[in-house]
Amino acid sequence: MENQKKIDKLIIPRLQNMQPYVPIYPPDIMAEKFGVSENDIVKLDGNENMFGPSPKVAQALSEFKDYNIYPDPLQEKLRESIANYAGTTPDRVIAGAGSDEIIDLLIRLFIQPGDKICQPVPTFAMYSTFTELVGGETISVSMDENFEITEDSILSAINNGVKIVFLTSPNNPTGRLIDKDFVSKILQKDVLVIVDEAYYEFSGKTCIDLIDDYSNLVILRTFSKWAGLAGMRIGYGIMNPSLVSHLLIIKPPYNISVAAEIAVKASLDDLELLLERVEIIKNEREWMFDRLSEIPFMEPIPSDANFILTKIVNLESVELYNRLLSKGILVRYYENELLKNYLRISIGSREQNQKLLDFIKQ
Ligand SMILES: Cc1ncc(COP(=O)(O)O)c(C=O)c1O
Repeated sequence: MENQKKIDKLIIPRLQNMQPYVPIYPPDIMAEKFGVSENDIVKLDGNENMFGPSPKVAQALSEFKDYNIYPDPLQEKLRESIANYAGTTPDRVIAGAGSDEIIDLLIRLFIQPGDKICQPVPTFAMYSTFTELVGGETISVSMDENFEITEDSILSAINNGVKIVFLTSPNNPTGRLIDKDFVSKILQKDVLVIVDEAYYEFSGKTCIDLIDDYSNLVILRTFSKWAGLAGMRIGYGIMNPSLVSHLLIIKPPYNISVAAEIAVKASLDDLELLLERVEIIKNEREWMFDRLSEIPFMEPIPSDANFILTKIVNLESVELYNRLLSKGILVRYYENELLKNYLRISIGSREQNQKLLDFIKQ
C-alpha cells in the first residue's frame, strides 16, 4: 500500500483521477459477465460489421510467413493502396491503429496544456478524452433539438481561441451528416478542421474534394466499419502532405501491424463483395428505422451510418437497456445528461434485428 502511494504520487496530477472512456466489450466477456451463452449474444452496441471481414483476409493472413519481421515504418505500400481506394495521393495519407490513433496523434501535434478543441455534442467521446490526456480543454457546443449543428455556436467558439474543430459526418451517435458548405466556411478560419468520416461508406457523402484547397483540413476514415476490421485496428487520415510528414515523425515507428497491412490489401482486393455488404446494411437500416418507428415508446432519428439513435419516451432508457442486456442483447446506453433518454442500436443481421424487435415488442 505504501509502495503504491509512492508510485501514485509520481503520476501527472491531472491524470490521477481521469475518468475512463466507457468502452464496449467483446461477446465472450459479456457472455461470461451476464451468464448467457456466447452464441446467444446479439451484439448491437459497437457499430461493428455483422458480416465480418472479407474471406480473403483470413486466407491472406494464413498464407503470410514473415510475421517475425517489423512492418514498414513509412507504410509506403499501405499508403499507396489506401490512396488508390480513397481517390487521393499516397503523400496525403497516413495510417493508424484505428482512426483513434490518428486523432491521438493530431491532438498531440497541435494541443498543449491550456489549448482548446471544439466539438458539437453529442459526438464521439475520444476527441475530448485524448484532449484531456494532453492537458487541453474541450469546448462542447450544443446542437439544436434535431441534433443539427448551430453554426454560430461553432463560430463563436473559434473566436474564443479554439485550435481544432472536430466535425463528424455522419456523426456518432446521431447518424446525421454535416453540411459541406458549413465545413468550407469553417475552413476559412485559422483552425485545424478534422472531418471524421468513419461511416463514410454508409453515407457516400464526403469532404475529400476540399483537401487540395485547404491545408487545414483533415479527413478521417477507418476500415473498422465498412470492411469489418474493427479488431484489426486500422484507420487513416487524408490531409496536406506537410501534415503527413509531421505525423510520420511523431507516430510510433511500427504502429500498423503486418497483419493489419495484409488485411487492408485483402479487403481492397475484395471491394465488390464488401461494398455489396454495405448496401445490404443500408437497406437493413431503412427496414429497422421503419420497424422502430412503429414502436410507441421509440422515436428513431434518420441515420446515414450503420446504426440508429432512438429516443425512448415514457420509459426509462436504462431500464430497457438493462432488460435487453439480461437477454444478451447489447445496445449502447449513455450515462450522460444529453443522451440519457436515448439508445443507439447498431444495424445487425435481419435475424439479430428481428430478435431485438421481438423482445422489445414483448
Ligand atoms: C466517429 C468515429 N470516429 C472514429 C472511431 C474510431 O474508429 P477506429 O476503430 O478506426 O479507431 C469511431 C468508432 O466507433 C467513431 O464512431
